[in-house]
Amino acid sequence: MSGGKGKDMEKTFWYKDAVIYQIWPRSFKDADGDGVGDLMGVYEKLDYLKSLHVDAIWFSPLYPSPNADFGYDVADYMDISAEYGGMAAFKKVLDGAHERGIRVIMDLVVNHTSDEHPWFQASRRGEEPYKDYYIWRKPKKDGTLPNNWDSMFEGKAWQYDEVRKAYYLHIFAIKQPDLNMDNPRVRAEVKKILRFWLDMGVDGFREDVITYISKPKGLPDAPFYMPMARGIFQYNNGPHLHEYLNEFRTVLDDYDCVTIGEAPLITTKRALDFIGGKHPELDMMIPFQCMEGDCFLQDYSHHPFCLVKLKTIWQHWQKALRGKGWNLLYIENHDHPRVISRYGSERYRTESGKMLAACYMLQQGTPFIYQGQEIGMTNLRLPRLDMYVDVMLKNNCRIASKILPQSLVLKLAQNSCRDSARTPMQWTGGPWAGFSETRPWFYVNENYHSVNVEAEEADPDSLLNFYRELIAFRKSEPVILRGSYTELLPQSPNFYVYCREYESRKILVIASLVAKETYFTCPEGFNLADGELIFKNHDLNVCVNNAFTARPYELRVYLFE
Ligand code: GLC
Repeated sequence: MSGGKGKDMEKTFWYKDAVIYQIWPRSFKDADGDGVGDLMGVYEKLDYLKSLHVDAIWFSPLYPSPNADFGYDVADYMDISAEYGGMAAFKKVLDGAHERGIRVIMDLVVNHTSDEHPWFQASRRGEEPYKDYYIWRKPKKDGTLPNNWDSMFEGKAWQYDEVRKAYYLHIFAIKQPDLNMDNPRVRAEVKKILRFWLDMGVDGFREDVITYISKPKGLPDAPFYMPMARGIFQYNNGPHLHEYLNEFRTVLDDYDCVTIGEAPLITTKRALDFIGGKHPELDMMIPFQCMEGDCFLQDYSHHPFCLVKLKTIWQHWQKALRGKGWNLLYIENHDHPRVISRYGSERYRTESGKMLAACYMLQQGTPFIYQGQEIGMTNLRLPRLDMYVDVMLKNNCRIASKILPQSLVLKLAQNSCRDSARTPMQWTGGPWAGFSETRPWFYVNENYHSVNVEAEEADPDSLLNFYRELIAFRKSEPVILRGSYTELLPQSPNFYVYCREYESRKILVIASLVAKETYFTCPEGFNLADGELIFKNHDLNVCVNNAFTARPYELRVYLFE
């Protein structure tokens, strides 16, 4: 399945034509009946993935982990968690996926490990060669913390360790100590990990917060305040980042694999530093900004959905990367609430789900689909704060509770939390949504009675079947893969309209992002009567003089040739 390996290997850039499906393994499918998703569950569903026409799976971490951050706290990089079925199950999935023409991408989490990783345990005891694997510091002379950085997940970024009698840095949870990438031994470990999985046949890596791995010399204080992220401008894009990525590339260059960089605060200009040029360090960057249509960074407290903002971001990434780098397209992942509940409407779930799918999937780039997105899963709203489990949410709630009433904190949690995207996948209308035979590790969204794969398989007009058709279409259509991108009506607060063009073919996407009927007049240069309507999500109102009354969240995609 891999395009080959070794010094003479030519990269095929297979990822450019691919659609990638993200699995958050804990909630995908439980085969062994313990309430937790596992790899044999994935194995059972490989034909389902094939029927969606996806080309690759990106697995959120599968490694052994105490799950302080659900796998993003790795306790062993060269094994698979027993909870998920261990290495034997992984190899079965890898082979089964490859037999179906589906590639497999692992999550590489090397900014930090779990505090239960043997490296950290040895490091805190000061044992060689692990002594300097992490970032240890004594308190300042006046007894205060080594610097003023915040942890994104839990208080300050420093935790005192009684064994080592020093503080260690943790940008994320206390149980996620940061690795010291300046230590050549740590970089050698990373290269070993890369080779280990690539030699096994894995097809690439999604590299977790990769722009945080190089910390600045002296770990200087952050000069200004930034809520819950003080220090981010010090440790993001650190001084040796490019050097280290180039070093890792000495391994990656031997394989026809893909690398995807997770880089909070990334701009198009910065993205091109990684993915532009003749010999890029990475293949694609995750454009966080397109998650900010209704929030600023991760703050959802007072930012209603703004279509013009979202369109400006989409347009900017399409234009800036064209011919210079390759776009990654996404509207959901495990770190954000469900998109229909944000940019669409739960009331018009299927219609807005289809509309949003076309809005991002017909752009140029490699689309990612997050498990459950294809059936239109929506946010879970739990009635009590203590029912939520995410470490980041708990921290945010602790802070928010100091200044806001509980009812408001709960509302914020319900609308913004990562847990909403992590509920068990809804396979059937049966017990536990067909995810498991027993009570799952986390709450199932009550709408599983109607929102589930089985029901949508049976309905030709379902969102699931729409995704299938859309993916098949985008693969067969050179306009989508290669065509130019022009946005029309950029100032419209109601419609997102864009045209893709390649040779003599044009595709026009017309999408309403509002919950009411709205009058649409087609921009100059297109006569809708001449186009072939290839996708829609409603019964249509008639088009008169190149204009029509669009229904709530209406989508029309026309082909002109
Ligand atoms: C990334 C992951 C997120 C995780 C964090 C720390 O942002 O996507 O889920 O909590 O890194 O590893």
